[in-house]
Amino acid sequence: MIQENIHLLACPRCRGKLRIERVQLKCLGCAATYPVDQDGIPLLFCPTEGWNKDRDVTEVVKAFYEKNPFPNYDDLESRESLEHKASRGIFARLLNEQIPAGSLVLEVGCGTGQLTNFLGMSWKRQVFGSDVCLNSLRLAKGFRDRFSINNAAFLQMNLFRPGFRDSIFDVVISNGVLHHTGDPYRAFQSIAQLVKPGGIILIGLYNRIGRLTTDFRRFLFRMTHDHLKFLDGHMRNRQYNEPRKRAWFMDQYKHPHESKHGMGEVIEWFEACGFEYLITIPKIDGSLFTANERLFEPHCKGNRLSRFLTEVEMLLEGGVDGALFITIGRRVCEDTFVGQKPAEARDSAALKG
Ligand SMILES: C[S@@+](CC[C@H](N)C(=O)[O-])C[C@H]1O[C@@H](n2cnc3c(N)ncnc32)[C@H](O)[C@@H]1O
Repeated sequence: MIQENIHLLACPRCRGKLRIERVQLKCLGCAATYPVDQDGIPLLFCPTEGWNKDRDVTEVVKAFYEKNPFPNYDDLESRESLEHKASRGIFARLLNEQIPAGSLVLEVGCGTGQLTNFLGMSWKRQVFGSDVCLNSLRLAKGFRDRFSINNAAFLQMNLFRPGFRDSIFDVVISNGVLHHTGDPYRAFQSIAQLVKPGGIILIGLYNRIGRLTTDFRRFLFRMTHDHLKFLDGHMRNRQYNEPRKRAWFMDQYKHPHESKHGMGEVIEWFEACGFEYLITIPKIDGSLFTANERLFEPHCKGNRLSRFLTEVEMLLEGGVDGALFITIGRRVCEDTFVGQKPAEARDSAALKG
């Protein structure tokens, strides 16, 4: 799939076109070369630019996931088991049903690639999974090759230096990733550039209030030298094998870097960067998220109070699944105002009309 779609790739350094040259990719602009590893994964990783070492956590986070690939495959031994597991979650099922036929999809920070592989099982679309972590990508690509998931492909890249051309994807998904970077808003801007006008972006982030339960458990685990792990429901889940439990525990409680975000804050990012707000999951207007929800249609964005109450509800429900909330938007504006703060970007967007 990478060979067929070489025209979609861009040099992470100079954004020039790439060409395949034996077992590597070569930039036609700056002549930089990028190897392809023995599993056939193009290695387009490039360090983040323009930050001092304290700000940039990419290398630290990459090293963490190289040791602890997430979410890992438990006993998924066939296409059917992945399909069955993914379809049990309403969100993945709705995505699979509602992504328009013929879409080009990118998952940024795909980890071990379950979602990319699940969505790539459909002949109706092409799905790229990208991540900084090579060990996760090897698990993802291994599953893809074993079960001939021909519409999924994987490559290594740093989301701050994307290996794709701008404005080419119909759908960009990044779930549970941006809060592990040194600047989540800049990370959002970086991947927002890859969405074509009219295309969709989905961002999953830890919620500031909902995640207080996890913060409290993390404190308890630290105090008890991890003796109370059973307090986390995932650690009691009989359907998880040991590597999967370990991956969850490390990701939630031993991570070197995470930030937390408000639902209103992400809506501001969207609006500042020329994206029309569509929906937040859980919903923020007081209504319930249903099994027939239309993910790509505009919904009410509630108000400060309704968003606050939704966040408190996440907390009261025990911060389920790490208290992630997902925001979806549609790109309506050609510019993404990269490098500007939300307020400045909003002003530029307003001037552009
Ligand atoms: C918590 S995992 C989420 C994996 C997957 N999205 C999921 O929902 O299961 C976060 C992933 O983000 C990746 N990541 C972190 N920083 C990144 C960066 N700068 N560029 C690309 N991927 C990054 C990590 O390697 C890791 O696989």
